[in-house]
Amino acid sequence: MFGWVHNRRDHGGAIFIDLRDRSGLTQLVFTSNAGQEAHNLAGELRLEYAIGIRGKVKSRGANINPRLGTGEIEVHVGDLEIFNRSEPTPFPVDDNIAVNEEKRLQYRYLDLRRPVMQRTMRLRANANHIVRNYFVENGFIELETPMLVKYTPGGARNFLVPSRLNPGKFYALAESPQLFKQLCMVAGFDRYFQIVRCFRDEDLRLDRQPEFTQIDVEMSFVEQEDIFEVIEGIIARLWKELLGIELPRPFPRLPFAACMEKYGNDKPDLRFDMPHKDLTELVRASDGGGVRLLHQATQDGGIVKALRVPANDILSRSEIDKLEDVAKGMGAQGLLRAKVGEAGAWALAPWAKQIVPEFRAAINDALGAGPGDILLFQFGKPAIVHTVLANLRLHLAKKLGLIPESGSGGQWKLLWVVDPPLFEHDEEQGRFVAAHHAFTRPHDDDIPLLASEPGRVRCYRYDLVLNGFEIGGGSIRLHQPELQASVFKALGLSDEEARAKFGFLLDALKFGAPPHGGIALGMDRLVMLLADLESLREAVAFPKTQKGSDLMTGAPGEVESAQLRDLCITSSAAAIGRPVPSPTV
Ligand code: AMO
Repeated sequence: MFGWVHNRRDHGGAIFIDLRDRSGLTQLVFTSNAGQEAHNLAGELRLEYAIGIRGKVKSRGANINPRLGTGEIEVHVGDLEIFNRSEPTPFPVDDNIAVNEEKRLQYRYLDLRRPVMQRTMRLRANANHIVRNYFVENGFIELETPMLVKYTPGGARNFLVPSRLNPGKFYALAESPQLFKQLCMVAGFDRYFQIVRCFRDEDLRLDRQPEFTQIDVEMSFVEQEDIFEVIEGIIARLWKELLGIELPRPFPRLPFAACMEKYGNDKPDLRFDMPHKDLTELVRASDGGGVRLLHQATQDGGIVKALRVPANDILSRSEIDKLEDVAKGMGAQGLLRAKVGEAGAWALAPWAKQIVPEFRAAINDALGAGPGDILLFQFGKPAIVHTVLANLRLHLAKKLGLIPESGSGGQWKLLWVVDPPLFEHDEEQGRFVAAHHAFTRPHDDDIPLLASEPGRVRCYRYDLVLNGFEIGGGSIRLHQPELQASVFKALGLSDEEARAKFGFLLDALKFGAPPHGGIALGMDRLVMLLADLESLREAVAFPKTQKGSDLMTGAPGEVESAQLRDLCITSSAAAIGRPVPSPTV
């Protein structure tokens, strides 16, 4: 057997070692009876020495160790070889360690030795294997697409790579294979997939990495339902094979508009309900019901929404008051709140002193509020009202124990969010912009609205959501030049601008492009969820910190000025007055 010394106990006559290898821990026993030389050498063993042994497997009789998979046996060692000694490690190679993440990332190779990390990486490898098998079995071809691509504006921010052979010119690192997979459809590969690394220079969060892996899929001659069928198939297979869980299919669907109305965002966690309620009409019809703030908000074109929290006296007064700070942290001006008492009276709501009793009763009715409930109100611009209430909904669900702080709690709530708007209004630019990308097909029923009311045009775009995480997104694409021209027109894009941005795709679509559509699943997020992990970094072997740095290798690093000269680049953060941030997780 080969492995690492995980633990040692020296009882004089017998030395016990827990040997850790890829399959777990095994107890080794060194005695002079079993092997004199090995017993002598075993006195030198320390944690994390890499060793090889030969010995006899024996039953542990009554001394079974139920914590070890191999707890019924031990190996009595005849020969021992020490391949390499180890310095004391900066933290124990053990599942239960109290060490900060910076240290773990700096010594990632030791961190990855820990059994929990080994399990995650094996799960990830198995997931890759299952995905590949599934798509190949279903007639998909795995094609690689370039990572060094032409920069195209829009979408996520790209990393740029200078071209030495073309001084002053740059590649972009592909943020996804989007345009290439569409070209694969034009090229006649009607079922494509790729497990592919993508690069985005975005602000990082717990569920984002600057380089991440997609399961990328594109299909020709299909409609939305065909994509759903294929994707539900792979998700169900992953859960079945990796967790032994049978996911009910088809996955539920919810139109984007209803999703925003009920949950304030397009990736709701459906492990609990607690929907928002729109009270704008009610407030308008009652002229604010005696509450000037609400009246004013609707007069100014804002909306009023509320959240009924079935707190049943679980939250103390100070906890309820603290919610206002939580809301402010999310961008709210404040948080109107009330606690429902007997007969529908409101406590803790000095703001509602002047409220008309009928209006209060109507709100209670609309929210289905009863004694013990906490009511939280937001009013103003829809975007901020939605953000604040969506975040409060999640915050409160954790506080009330409706969902765990992290992990699934054994519940898997999948949801397709469908039919979002094709365009969104960019207030700064004062015009419509593509909500996702300019090649998403408008909803057939809404094509007549393209010229008259672009804001109301829905499209065949879909996101797959699991327990509040967006695990995938895609769309049916625009493949007909005429329809595409109307979409560009609605976007205010001239022919020249469209050509400058997407020339090669526009050319390709002229040559009998088939109807097509696709999706990409976030592999890292899937692994994070499958393994019940707290952050994406736990699902990636060598992740970057929140600042995009690799604490082990020191990337990104400085380079010699000669290298920059070769690339015709002058660079210095200091020269343009940008502070150089220090690396933190
Ligand atoms: P989209 O941008 O929605 O679609 O990405 C697809 C999925 O990739 C995952 N993801 C990420 N995971 C980790 N870190 C990131 N920074 C990150 N960004 C995205 C998410 C997301 O749902 N070309 C389109 C797909 C298509 O239309 O077919 C695309 O890339 O889980």
